[in-house]
Amino acid sequence: MVVQSMPDASPVKWHLAHTTWFFETFLLARVPGFRPRDERWGHLFNSYYVAAGSRHARPERGLLTRPTVKEVLDWRSAVDDQLQALLASPLGRDPETLAVAELGLQHEQQHQELILTDLQHALSRNPLEVAYRPIPPDPDGPTGTPPIRWVDHPGSRVRIGHAGGGFAFDNEGPAHDVLLGPYALASRPVTAGEYLAFIDDRGYERPELWLWEGFQLAHAAGWRAPLYWDHRDGKWTRFTLHGRIPVDPGAPVAHVSYYEADAYARWTGARLPTEMEWEAAAASTPVRGQFVEDGWLVPRAAGPSAPLFGGAWAWTSSAYVAYPGYRPPSGALGEYNGKFMVNQWVLRGGSCLSPASHLRATYRNFWHPQDRFQVTGIRLARDPHEGRPTWRGTMESIPARRPADQAAPTASPATVRDGGSTSVDVPGVATSAAATRRPASTRPATSRGRATRSSRASSRARAGSGRMPSRRRSRARRSRRQLTIP
Ligand SMILES: [Fe+2]
Repeated sequence: MVVQSMPDASPVKWHLAHTTWFFETFLLARVPGFRPRDERWGHLFNSYYVAAGSRHARPERGLLTRPTVKEVLDWRSAVDDQLQALLASPLGRDPETLAVAELGLQHEQQHQELILTDLQHALSRNPLEVAYRPIPPDPDGPTGTPPIRWVDHPGSRVRIGHAGGGFAFDNEGPAHDVLLGPYALASRPVTAGEYLAFIDDRGYERPELWLWEGFQLAHAAGWRAPLYWDHRDGKWTRFTLHGRIPVDPGAPVAHVSYYEADAYARWTGARLPTEMEWEAAAASTPVRGQFVEDGWLVPRAAGPSAPLFGGAWAWTSSAYVAYPGYRPPSGALGEYNGKFMVNQWVLRGGSCLSPASHLRATYRNFWHPQDRFQVTGIRLARDPHEGRPTWRGTMESIPARRPADQAAPTASPATVRDGGSTSVDVPGVATSAAATRRPASTRPATSRGRATRSSRASSRARAGSGRMPSRRRSRARRSRRQLTIP
């Protein structure tokens, strides 16, 4: 509850206190005569709202031994009572009050996800690798992971952004038209097994696949696999909230940075989708997938339906910037999203740690390109077929060592009709039956957003990487020596 494992993560106690402070500051303060529980606590639990007063240094949140956990829980209980009294009063019928109350609830859902990601990181730093809770029984049993299909989307003018009806964060609007060229979106996320093929093909050592900034970072931090992965005695494992478990080759890969996602996409010959392409595809699909209510706190094999939502957040190739005509709301709450619209990248779809009711097609999450401690994964896109496939396909079809200048194959895959949209079958991933599962149960949902973050080189280095076998380590050493190019 009180441990802070790196500057980017916060103790569970701090999350609880911060969300309580949010309700006190932005909602209960509207009640005439209201006094906060302790005037000094605002400094401790204000995250980044400059207009709301002073703030404690983020990297030192783990040093806040007071108030205690019990004091924070008592505070929250009292605030809950005050909120209910407010909502039952005439002020509770004021539209602006109700809008802030809803914002406070949505904000709390964001922190619920952050509590789990921060807790996972904290537990990962303990060599005992304690599980937050045991992995639940698999309700679906083992099944195969289907091959990737490319679902074609015709080029068209599409409406992007939230246009009213239900809650949305300010950064989801204004709704506006964009012109999309034809593209194809992968029918499911990239799996851990497919990502292992990238690793085995020296993906982390080949600069031609990487953005230079990411390549330098990967080598400086020793990245050779997704965060939490480890390679020992010939087996790959990953640390999760359920403890250390084998890497499931059929499950979506997670805990990769934008740089790794982009490098992987280049390796396949495909690319990451833009956020507009993702949203245009998601707009007509229900919000269903694997969310936190599922009980599995790690992405599971997507199965044949492979929903766009849940499992792992999908990195997009879109920078997190304001939509045309966007203006931050006035006052301190205007600092919620707008001031972070630089140097970050948009992610879409939610994860296995997101509350189901927090997601929708227009929802924009955003993180720095080097961040890996969130449940962030990859869904590929590609441009129109031009006579040769750009996707190399399966673990089986990807050679163990692919020369950097090897030409893409020239044979065209078959084109099939799939429910009115044109899809292209590519060879599938033959994952082991024992390691793959059918999709999580489906359930309705609605929306989602963000929270505080910053990134520092020290935390990146500590975030670490999977352990390499000695053969790879020597390759990495050779590769690092080559990094002396000015
Ligand atoms: Fe917050």
